[in-house]
Amino acid sequence: MGRNGRKPGRGQAGSRPSLDVAAILDARRGEELALNDLHLNPQFGRVLRTIGYDRTWVRGYGPYLWDDRGDRYLDLLSGYGVFALGRNNPAVRAQLERFLAAETANLPQLGVTLLAGVLAEQLLARAPSRLDAVVLTNSGTESVEAAIKLARASTGRPRVLYLNHGFHGLTNGALSVNGNEEFRERFGPLLPGCDMVPFGDLDALRTELARGDVAAFLVEPVQGKGVNIPEPHYLPEAQELCRAAGTLLVVDEVQTGLGRTGRFLALEHWGLEPDLVLLSKALSGGYVPVGAVLTTRAVFERVFDSMERAVVHGSTFGTNDLAAAAAIATLAEIDDAGLVERARAAGERLLELTRPLVDRYELVKDVRGLGLMWAIEFQPPSGGAALRAWRLAEDRQPGIFAQLVTGPLFSEHRILTQVAGHRMNVIKALPPLVIEDHDLVAFAEALDAVLARLERGLAGAMARFGLGVARRSLRRPRAAR
Ligand SMILES: Cc1ncc(COP(=O)(O)O)c(C=O)c1O
Repeated sequence: MGRNGRKPGRGQAGSRPSLDVAAILDARRGEELALNDLHLNPQFGRVLRTIGYDRTWVRGYGPYLWDDRGDRYLDLLSGYGVFALGRNNPAVRAQLERFLAAETANLPQLGVTLLAGVLAEQLLARAPSRLDAVVLTNSGTESVEAAIKLARASTGRPRVLYLNHGFHGLTNGALSVNGNEEFRERFGPLLPGCDMVPFGDLDALRTELARGDVAAFLVEPVQGKGVNIPEPHYLPEAQELCRAAGTLLVVDEVQTGLGRTGRFLALEHWGLEPDLVLLSKALSGGYVPVGAVLTTRAVFERVFDSMERAVVHGSTFGTNDLAAAAAIATLAEIDDAGLVERARAAGERLLELTRPLVDRYELVKDVRGLGLMWAIEFQPPSGGAALRAWRLAEDRQPGIFAQLVTGPLFSEHRILTQVAGHRMNVIKALPPLVIEDHDLVAFAEALDAVLARLERGLAGAMARFGLGVARRSLRRPRAAR
């Protein structure tokens, strides 16, 4: 029950004549997990309790989050990459306040507005010159859906190729090109004509393209699941193969775009000239949903080729002024704060600080990154009791070791990181691009301390972790107050 004996959710918001969001945040602080369990996703609530991430978050600013105890956490997830500018960026917020005060004639629907056009202009000015048309969307997965439709309609071909471990979102079309079985399971049948090719395997790609029926090859420049960075020749050669086969190259920059990898678009690392580029996540500074597909006029006009077909693809909110204003302000802030260069330099520094861990600890197999997309990969110890403990735990739950690292990073060092994918002993960091050197150093030192302790007593740590998980997963959900 809520305070005053009311059912949660039927509280102040419904009964007050004038709503005050700030008062809700204050009066109902601490109810978020209970409300989640009642009305949203209780299984996710269980996960948070089990891994010990069940905090009451009360504030976010820059690279930090604060909980209700006043503890500050360094956020190396950035909301899965949306807070590249840090949380609650004041420059974007100031522009949003100006935008709201302007009371624009938003979404006339049978009419067009200025800000969507300005955003398209600004995006194209920063993209490879052959891209000269934009479709605005509301999310990453929607950008992927649009790309599949544009590619099929403009080539007249049915098939779409994607890579193993590729991740492009979770709506039906995007799921059909998702290279991770754990997401696809039980949602079939998915779209026909979508086929996976192995990451890095040009021969497999060549064989599929040779059938002459492939509309698009969809690829993340750096794969988000696992932070897999391709060999230098892979993407340029894949592009050549696609061109020769009349297949469109679609580069999904939803996670890698907007400075994340130390270039405005990651495709610049390889000088790629794709037919479509997909954006979302960081594009609104984290304030509102937004997405974009950048493509060529030729592709666009093969789809929207008559007045009859003028609205053959789109969505109600696609060109909304609020998202456009946030995105224009975000692009300006990326420039003004020099965030692309900052990401490049900070990424190099992070590698410099963390690569020595590979030599220092036998449990560390690899440290890799491009700009501020970073990962550390673990491997089993070479023998003895430590290896037996590893095998025992990993046989039961593959990827469990990575949680032995993310757990103490969070609970002891107050650093938020994530395991990079299902059943993977890889930890990933997507720091805000505004992260400062002292926080990079703090992260590297925390990792070092956690790994040193684990390497000294792996068997004990695994046993304690197993017990802790069992205890926390049995913990009763907190009742709503
Ligand atoms: C590369 C990539 N594409 C698409 C998506 C889907 O974006 P959204 O979650 O906004 O639908 C993601 C999300 O993580 C992503 O990383």
